[in-house]
Amino acid sequence: MTTKNTLSITDNRTGKTYELPITDGTIKAMDLRAIKTDDKDFGMMTYDPAFMNTASCRSAITYIDGDAGILRYRGYDIAELAEKSTHLEVSYLLLHGELPTKPQLDAFSREITMHTFLHENVKDFIDGFRYDAHPMGMLIATVGALSTFYPEAKDIYNKQNRHLQIIRLIAKMPTIAAWSYRHSVGQPFVYPDNDFGYPANFLSMMKKMAEREYKANATLVRALDVLFILHADHEQNCSTSAMRGVGSSQVDPYSAIAAASAALYGPLHGGANEAVLRMLNEIGNVSNVPKFIDEVKNGKGSRLMGFGHRVYKNYDPRAKVIKRLADEVFEVTGKNPLLDIALELERIALQDEYFVKRKLYPNVDFYSGLIYQAMGFPVDMFPVLFAIPRTVGWLAQWAEMLDDSEQKIARPRQIYTGKELRPFVPMEKR
Ligand code: CMC
Repeated sequence: MTTKNTLSITDNRTGKTYELPITDGTIKAMDLRAIKTDDKDFGMMTYDPAFMNTASCRSAITYIDGDAGILRYRGYDIAELAEKSTHLEVSYLLLHGELPTKPQLDAFSREITMHTFLHENVKDFIDGFRYDAHPMGMLIATVGALSTFYPEAKDIYNKQNRHLQIIRLIAKMPTIAAWSYRHSVGQPFVYPDNDFGYPANFLSMMKKMAEREYKANATLVRALDVLFILHADHEQNCSTSAMRGVGSSQVDPYSAIAAASAALYGPLHGGANEAVLRMLNEIGNVSNVPKFIDEVKNGKGSRLMGFGHRVYKNYDPRAKVIKRLADEVFEVTGKNPLLDIALELERIALQDEYFVKRKLYPNVDFYSGLIYQAMGFPVDMFPVLFAIPRTVGWLAQWAEMLDDSEQKIARPRQIYTGKELRPFVPMEKR
């Protein structure tokens, strides 16, 4: 049989057959428009709520094979990057497609370091929040507000200008994050320290009190950097799709990052690590785990947070690295008492038919919260700790979209299910 890279579709309403080209295992949804019952017919569309089976772009940044549990940035395996690289090196890789040479990395790190300060007015802006404001809410608002400080950022097709905004965003997100936290606990803001690397500077802005210089533990600095690497990108997830969707209107990157951060805040996405910790606290004791699992299974309780993934139907490769990392961190900080509950949940879930059948495995958020907590970060900061490293992924995807001639403003279709045209009803007749 001769084979062709096409798909033949027969419309049984009309008896007509259409031949559509197949490229990279996909057909173009727009090719379906030719399938019509008559000239007046709009043409066939696809219906795909939650984008379960629709590719919205071509991307050369991140590769995931969810069945095999594979994650690669620009072709490099995530576990190898986590072991051998740094977050700034990975940031360069995500943005430029190649690992930097030593001079390239030095120049990139220097550029980032030179842009970590925030305009002094930003302090007043953050101070305006209520004393108990959630740091993620402050982060979302403050990064959006930066668009008012850099109005030239609108010039998104000017490559030099775009580069400057990318550097600013990667550099300033940790400062915004740390200041949001300091405000929420009523402590003075700590300015960036240019003598520190990216994760150590963030820890200093979070934790420094009266000492002349904050001395972070080297194991914890490295652990934070590895967590940053693991969270840097994850192809077309909810927040990245928000970044691309909002960015496709050609808005400035600060506004688009605010939208992406808002998407990340939800408990089904970057808010999950916060939800995991609350869940572990609620369970309270290893002996309560079987009852909790039963409630998850019979729908009486919540979901098992930190389990399951739209794409991974296998152990999340990031969770594997994080589980190992947790041991290193706990050697310094002492074991997080919630770890035993988490391990018992995992042990039971991995052999329970409900979870096995649905291919529900621990995801990146299952163990990351335990590490963050052991490192002294409050639970409210967990989604913020996700947003800092994901910023580079959002920006790499945004820049790729702007350079993609196939992209236009994102504008899905709908199937209208409402009323047909009807006459207006005067108030007295309703
Ligand atoms: N606990 C219990 N049951 C679950 C869970 C869970 N965590 N996740 C999925 N299921 C069940 C779900 O009830 C459904 O069962 P049934 O077929 O009987 O109706 C089945 O598994 C398929 O679930 P789904 O909701 O159709 O799957 P999805 O691809 O839409 O959802 C998910 C993916 C991540 C939103 C979901 O697994 C979930 O809510 N997990 C908990 C939240 C979480 O940990 N999120 C972090 C994701 S990783 C970090 C990130 O990317 O932000």
